[in-house]
Amino acid sequence: MSDNLKARECFGSKFGIIAATAGSAVGLGNIWKFPYVAGENGGGAFLIIYLFFVMAVGVPVMMSEFAIGRRGQRNAYGSFSVVAPGKRWNLIGLMGIVAAFFILAFYSAVAGWTLEYMVSSATNGFAGQSSHDLENTFSAFIANPIRPVVWQMVFMILTALIILAGVSKGIEKYTKLLMPLLLLFIIVLCVRSVTLEGGKSGLAFLFKPDFSKVTAKTFLYAVGQAFFSLSLGMGALITYSSYFGKHENLASTAVSVALSDTLIAILAGVMIFPAVFAFGIEPSSGPSLVFITLPGIFQKMFGGGFFGSIFFILLAVAALTSTISLLEVVVAFFSEELKMTRRKATFIATIAASILGVFASLSLGIMKGVTLFGKNIFDILDYSASNVMLPLGGLLIVLFVGWFGGKKMLKAELSNEGELKTKYYPYFNFAVKFIAPVAIAAVFIYCMFWESLG
Ligand code: TRP
Repeated sequence: MSDNLKARECFGSKFGIIAATAGSAVGLGNIWKFPYVAGENGGGAFLIIYLFFVMAVGVPVMMSEFAIGRRGQRNAYGSFSVVAPGKRWNLIGLMGIVAAFFILAFYSAVAGWTLEYMVSSATNGFAGQSSHDLENTFSAFIANPIRPVVWQMVFMILTALIILAGVSKGIEKYTKLLMPLLLLFIIVLCVRSVTLEGGKSGLAFLFKPDFSKVTAKTFLYAVGQAFFSLSLGMGALITYSSYFGKHENLASTAVSVALSDTLIAILAGVMIFPAVFAFGIEPSSGPSLVFITLPGIFQKMFGGGFFGSIFFILLAVAALTSTISLLEVVVAFFSEELKMTRRKATFIATIAASILGVFASLSLGIMKGVTLFGKNIFDILDYSASNVMLPLGGLLIVLFVGWFGGKKMLKAELSNEGELKTKYYPYFNFAVKFIAPVAIAAVFIYCMFWESLG
């Protein structure tokens, strides 16, 4: 008998729920994007704006996903079919499945790089390289047709093994182990960084409020960053919440996850910028910050090989707990909707995502020439998922919950069928009906039109 007919698996503890969900949220987005965006957009001023959007948009959207998933007790597609029977809202879930494949493909490529860099740091492979050499090392590495792909496959297999072990014996067990480890490593690196001479100006870059740098764009960045960082808009949290127990308080879980994610993002800044400024280097963002600037700094730092290895292990762990959540979206869909066993669903989903992932990897090297609208495959996958599918999915989710989903279902879920008080409901309702749709629509329109115009 196929395993989808057995009782649905469930996370076993409150800590397990937080570890898994925060694990999905905390990822590469927190570590290489948030600190830089914050520093460039007014430091403390950005933090205030970001926190506002996390609470006013992120948390309500997260609560909406939780309500849909726990009520539906199914994957992202199936949950919509349960809560809105006979309607086409489940297409949101279908788009989420596609988004999961797209994000997995480019995200696992980058995750693979962290493994290469972990090994290089541990074996002192960057010794004696100038910043120019490090730049060449990195561009030669990602353009290589073999090494990055091999590491990417290693990463996909790790992800698949955890998914294969199941919800409580796989996802929950490993995130409960990995998330505390991540916190420990980040604290070790923060202490190392802030105790470097001259690191203070890094803290000023990150925290000193500079309202003169705040423009309309700042608000858009804040919403977009909150969305990606909190794993919203494609049903990852619908899938996870379908494994929450029925006594779990959805509102407080959403707040805890959102605050943990934000805390880790801020700590990432505390870990990175004092070191960058202590060595008198211009901060950059994205891959070049993590794979060029930071290796250069570790090399100059006392104990750099050790701290560098810890840093890349940290990145790999952060990425792994995120890829788990992405693969689970697809596996839950395959096993429940296409009636496969979990084993078969994992196998097929992993192979399919890996094939797409190989193309994403190769598009930085030998397949550079394959482009659409001037973007290579890697960028197309990133752009269409992060800038189109996630905001569109998020917008449709809040429209569904705020205007079409039925107050009854929501109130029943948020209050656990009347067990809990929901004094915050009027605020939630206002946020879901008005603030979130307007904010998401603004980002969406901005990304779709203004930016593509140049
Ligand atoms: N939130 C993760 C990060 O910050 C990435 C991620 C994992 C994600 N699952 C997701 C983003 C689902 C959007 C949707 O790196």
